[in-house]
Amino acid sequence: MEPITVLVHGALGKMGREVTAAICRDPELELVGGVDVKATQEQLILPDDSKKVPLSSDLSSLLEICHPKVLVDFTIAEAAISAVRIVLKQGINVVIGTSGITDDNLKEIEELSKANKVGVIVAPNFALGSVILLHLAKIGAKFFDHAEIIELHHHEKADAPSGTALATAREMSKSKGKAFVYPLTKKETLSGTRGGQVDGVSIHSVRLLGLMASQEVIFGAPGQTLSLRHDTISRECYIPGIIMAIKEVVKRQGLVYGLETLLNLR
Ligand SMILES: NC(=O)c1ccc[n+]([C@@H]2O[C@H](COP(=O)([O-])OP(=O)(O)OC[C@H]3O[C@@H](n4cnc5c(N)ncnc54)[C@H](O)[C@@H]3O)[C@@H](O)[C@H]2O)c1
Repeated sequence: MEPITVLVHGALGKMGREVTAAICRDPELELVGGVDVKATQEQLILPDDSKKVPLSSDLSSLLEICHPKVLVDFTIAEAAISAVRIVLKQGINVVIGTSGITDDNLKEIEELSKANKVGVIVAPNFALGSVILLHLAKIGAKFFDHAEIIELHHHEKADAPSGTALATAREMSKSKGKAFVYPLTKKETLSGTRGGQVDGVSIHSVRLLGLMASQEVIFGAPGQTLSLRHDTISRECYIPGIIMAIKEVVKRQGLVYGLETLLNLR
């Protein structure tokens, strides 16, 4: 079987480098090019030095010389959306890991993917453990009335709380069918110590040098607690999910949101 040809958008970024290396290790995939606004050279040397592929800061001009089956995007939201508008019209499937894709963006992507009969997978989190944690948290939510989330990230993370923590709290209350019970603290002597609240779930954000990305969901009931925790130790955690998405997206038409669908966890 011919390998699936892949172009990485954001190829020089932290995730882009991990993804290009992983594609090169997989015999079912072939990296055919990289795009990054930071590109200063015309070639990307593959991590194993086996070959060079075209590199450009301009997606449209690169698409004139290489014809990928899939574009994988790890850039910024605006760049991801403008790339999607270009490549879907050319019949190229897309896997997006970039954060900040809005509901309006998703609507547009869905329409474009259907109109052009191609597949798009958008996943805010490609770490399998994190996806499974969310699935278990949705089950726990049905049986517990109290819950809090602690999310822990490196000190340079721009936003707080994490998008994953917000989505987890919302999905938990959706699964429960109502808000959790939020115990009011009579006197908060230091403002903010009870965290931010979403549907009765308190979210606490730790930002600390040395951490990467972790999330703990704690359920409480009389006489017991249940803790679900996922720790990200390196960016390698995203790779199996991304590779799975590349291999799946070529078999689909339309938009798939979240890795849950590919894992049959819905
Ligand atoms: N879905 C997931 O599981 C997952 C996992 C990790 C990171 N992310 C997200 O992926 C994105 C990238 O993360 P990162 O850590 O690699 O960031 P990064 O800053 O290291 O890399 C982003 C790359 O995109 C490039 N870029 C920016 N604008 C561009 C444009 N207009 N055209 C072409 N290239 C452009 C940058 O030059 C940079 O090299 C972020 O949004 C991050 O939150 C998602």
